[in-house]
Amino acid sequence: MQSTIRKAVIPAAGVGTRFLPAVKAIPKELLPIVDKPTIQYIVEEAVASGIEQVILITSRGKGAIEDHFDISFELEEILKWQKKEDLLRLVQEVSSMVRMTAIRQKEPKGLGHAVLCAREAVGDEPFAVMLGDDIVDSDPPCLAQMVEVFRQIDGGVIALQRVPESKTHLYGIISGEKVGERTYRITGLVEKPTPEQAPSSLAVIGRYLLPPEIFPILEHTLPGKGGEIQLTDGLQALANSMPLYGYEFTGDRYDAGDKVGYLEANIAFALKRPQMVERLRAFMEKIIRA
Ligand code: G1P
Repeated sequence: MQSTIRKAVIPAAGVGTRFLPAVKAIPKELLPIVDKPTIQYIVEEAVASGIEQVILITSRGKGAIEDHFDISFELEEILKWQKKEDLLRLVQEVSSMVRMTAIRQKEPKGLGHAVLCAREAVGDEPFAVMLGDDIVDSDPPCLAQMVEVFRQIDGGVIALQRVPESKTHLYGIISGEKVGERTYRITGLVEKPTPEQAPSSLAVIGRYLLPPEIFPILEHTLPGKGGEIQLTDGLQALANSMPLYGYEFTGDRYDAGDKVGYLEANIAFALKRPQMVERLRAFMEKIIRA
């Protein structure tokens, strides 16, 4: 298998009902964590992991995501005129970050279907899938850790994290055998099982390195949990025919698709900013004491 991963598919077609009414008129992917849209954290992780092209899977009303990564001529002119060089550099960095292609998923048929929409754009090479709700703060970046594992083994790699029993119903859960430090050979995957049905406590987190063989599989994957074509079901079929590994990455992961997780991410990233940390700490101490 080719060992370089050049392309990352980022599904961004979902409505994000959990964040209504905030996402009535703006894509949930543009909700900021401190001052950066959530999807920018994902794209930055992709670029820092060697990705050269992002394939964004979008839907109606998501055009602002592409605008965010495009050149904003007017804004740049205003910032030049105002001599705000630092801000000018900041917005130019965003537009020159990565080559981006957008593909529409016309119907909400599930994550597996969203990935299938990228088939032509990906072609016949291994690729990454990155889910925008999972923000991982780590050095090296989560995807880069996985690329390193991918280079050493022959097969797909999926990011894993242990979750409490009470949370298995929120994730794809794997069964497998430990084959190395933090690495598992996956034998089975179940989408969002109850604690009783869960084969382990190892949950699939939204980072995947997959061979192109996943596409014909997804084409024939029937709707599963929730009536949607599930990536997890496609991965189960892939694991039956090719080696598939799970990797317990290191780093802090935030579920930005959940309200509390989103707030936690905001607090954690704000506390990393030297200009904010003191005031924010003082405020939190005051509010907790009250
Ligand atoms: C998706 C996948 C699930 C995975 C999760 C990770 O679910 O279907 O297998 O564990 O992402 O965040 P979602 O959270 O989109 O419902």
